[in-house]
Amino acid sequence: MSRIAYVNGRYLPMRTAMVHVEDRGYQFGDGVYEVCEVREGRLIDERRHLARLKRSLDELRIRQPMSPRALGVVLREVIARNRIGYGTVYLQVTRGVARRDHAFPVPEVTPSLVVTARPLSGARNMALAATGIAVISMPDNRWGRVDIKTIGLLPNVLARQSAIEQGARDAWFVDKDGAVTEGASANAWIVTQAGTVVTRPADHGILSGIARTVLFEVIKGQGLTVEERAFTLQEAYDAREAFVTAATQIVLPVVRIDRHAVGDGKPGPVATALRREFHRYAEQS
Ligand code: PDD
Repeated sequence: MSRIAYVNGRYLPMRTAMVHVEDRGYQFGDGVYEVCEVREGRLIDERRHLARLKRSLDELRIRQPMSPRALGVVLREVIARNRIGYGTVYLQVTRGVARRDHAFPVPEVTPSLVVTARPLSGARNMALAATGIAVISMPDNRWGRVDIKTIGLLPNVLARQSAIEQGARDAWFVDKDGAVTEGASANAWIVTQAGTVVTRPADHGILSGIARTVLFEVIKGQGLTVEERAFTLQEAYDAREAFVTAATQIVLPVVRIDRHAVGDGKPGPVATALRREFHRYAEQS
């Protein structure tokens, strides 16, 4: 079965799904995106993802390509046409196609919208969660508005590649004060020796993850204490547990940071419980 993508109003086989060479996403990274988890063919946290999409678009003054309701129809159509039971759906909106010039096109052009979907392996994700992952730290060299979910991900790409080349799975960015900001494609959390769950406040220094937002509810439901504050890399080394959250991996334990084993080097009970309970709190539609 050929994969199907939605491209500017049409559902096309992947090999013919193309955007124009003068699309501003292609030329300038002038666009935004979202990734939603799909379970049993249904969208997880659609409402929150589409609200964040609107925020990203508004911040960059890109027009909404269609209403959230219409977008929901397209997302579901792509999920159905690709027969995704468990997987992810990706959507990207760019400012559109115009002759190359840094300034916004005048007159305004129609934004481009692309949606793709792909299956995930449940078994593989479960195995990853059971063993946990290693991360490496590196200086956060991204721009000052990483709260906007833009498609300009070069520092994230290089960080991830560097992690892989060093035998780790992901990278944690560290700011100039020595505090962890977030992962290359996930939010970063620790559990202190006192059992407090800590994550950085969602200021301009991180992306306000949807899984992160939902996790606050899960944490409350577990009767755990949570603190939104910056934590240093040293605190992470000394933590009892560490984990990351993202739509694609929900809660994934981190068992090594640089050369330091976190806790006893195995996924801890807090991360494991939060992962298990997550979907009782997430919206499914
Ligand atoms: N990434 N921080 C960054 C830099 C991210 O790229 C992501 C998600 C998150 C977590 O956000 P959420 O919980 O809404 O997925 C945090 C997606 C999955 C990606 O780029 O593939």
